[in-house]
Amino acid sequence: MQAAYYLENGAARDVLQVGEVETPAPVAGEVLVRIHASGVNPSDVKSRRGAPGRAKAFPQIIPHSDGAGVVEKVGDGVDAGRVGERVWIWNGQWKRPFGTAAAYIAVPAAQTVPLPESVDFDAGACFGIPALTAQHAVTVGESVAGQRVLITGGAGAVGHYAIQFAKMKGAEVITTISSPQKADHARAAGADHVINYKTEDVAAVVQDITGGGRVDRIIDVDFGRNQSLIPTCLKPGGFVVVYGSNDMAPPLQILPLFVYGPCVQFFIVYELTAEARAKGIADINELIASGGMRHTIAAKFPMMDIVSAHELVESGTAIGNVVIHP
Ligand SMILES: NC(=O)c1ccc[n+]([C@@H]2O[C@H](COP(=O)([O-])OP(=O)(O)OC[C@H]3O[C@@H](n4cnc5c(N)ncnc54)[C@H](OP(=O)(O)O)[C@@H]3O)[C@@H](O)[C@H]2O)c1
Repeated sequence: MQAAYYLENGAARDVLQVGEVETPAPVAGEVLVRIHASGVNPSDVKSRRGAPGRAKAFPQIIPHSDGAGVVEKVGDGVDAGRVGERVWIWNGQWKRPFGTAAAYIAVPAAQTVPLPESVDFDAGACFGIPALTAQHAVTVGESVAGQRVLITGGAGAVGHYAIQFAKMKGAEVITTISSPQKADHARAAGADHVINYKTEDVAAVVQDITGGGRVDRIIDVDFGRNQSLIPTCLKPGGFVVVYGSNDMAPPLQILPLFVYGPCVQFFIVYELTAEARAKGIADINELIASGGMRHTIAAKFPMMDIVSAHELVESGTAIGNVVIHP
C-alpha cells in the first residue's frame, strides 16, 4: 500500500517520504480500515519533529493518530458484521508505529467508532484529538451548566469544538481570538462573547461582560502565557483545564495560585480513561444528532503532499483542521 512515513525525526521536508509499504493484516481483535481521510494535528507535527519528550520510539513511523474510513477486514474475535462500516479512529499512532497517513491501518477494533452517515470522512478525521479533547476539557469536573467559561483560542481546532460542547452543556462562553476572522469563526460556533487577546485587555473585558464578576472555568490552550488569567479572570477556587502550552517549561507564578486556590487539571487526550472516552464519544454523537456540530476543514492535501500539510499545521495559520487523503 501507499503510505507516508519517516525514519528519522526532523523537518517535514527533510524526513517525510511517501512510498510503498506492506499492507497490514488485522490480527485478533483488530480491524483493517481503508483510510479516506487522515487528520494532521499539532501533536503529529511535534512527534515528527522530535520535540522534547517525543523521541522516535520505532524505526519507521507512519504518522497521524486521527483518521476516518471504512472497515475492510476484521481479525479473529471481531464481529464480521463490521465489514463495510464507516468509522473514525482514535490513538492511531499513540504508542504504535503505524498511524493513519496510509491507504490502510490495522487497529484494535475498540479504537474505531461508527461514523454517522451525516458526517463526512474529513470531519470524522477530526474527532480523535480535537473533538475528544474539547469535550473532555468542558466536562471534566463539575458541570458547566449555568456557569461562565473562558475558552482561550476559540478559533483553534480544539477551541472551536470546546465552544460547541460548552454551549451544549449550558454554559455562557467567553472566548479569546486574535483577528476579526477568528472572532466570526468563534461566534459561529456559539461563543457569546469574543475578546481579541492581542488588542484588548482580556481581564478588563471579562470584568465588563460579567459585571465585575469572574468566570467559573478557564479552558486553556497556552498555559505558559495564560496562567496570568487565573488571578485576573477566575473566581477564587475556580477550575482551570489545561490542554496546551506553547512553552513546556514556563516560569510558574506560585503566589496567585495560593491566593486564588484554583483547581488546575492538566490532561492529554491519548490517555483518557475508557470511561471518559466513552462519555466523549456519547457527547460527540449527541452533538451530531442535534444537527448542530460544526466542523472546519482548513485545507485538504493529497498524501503525496503531506509535507505541505505538516508545514501548514506547523505555521499555526490554519483555521480549522488539516487533512490528507491517501
Ligand atoms: N492535551 C491534549 O490532549 C491536546 C489535544 C489537542 C491539542 N493539544 C495542544 O493544544 C494546542 C492547540 O491545538 P489545536 O489543534 O487546537 O491547534 P490550532 O488549531 O492551531 O489552534 C490553536 C489556537 O490557539 C490560538 N492561540 C495560540 N496561542 C494563544 C494564546 N496564548 N492565547 C489564546 N489563543 C492562543 C491560536 O490562534 P492565534 O495564534 O491567532 O491566537 C489558534 O487559534 C497545541 O499545542 C496542541 O499540541 C493538546
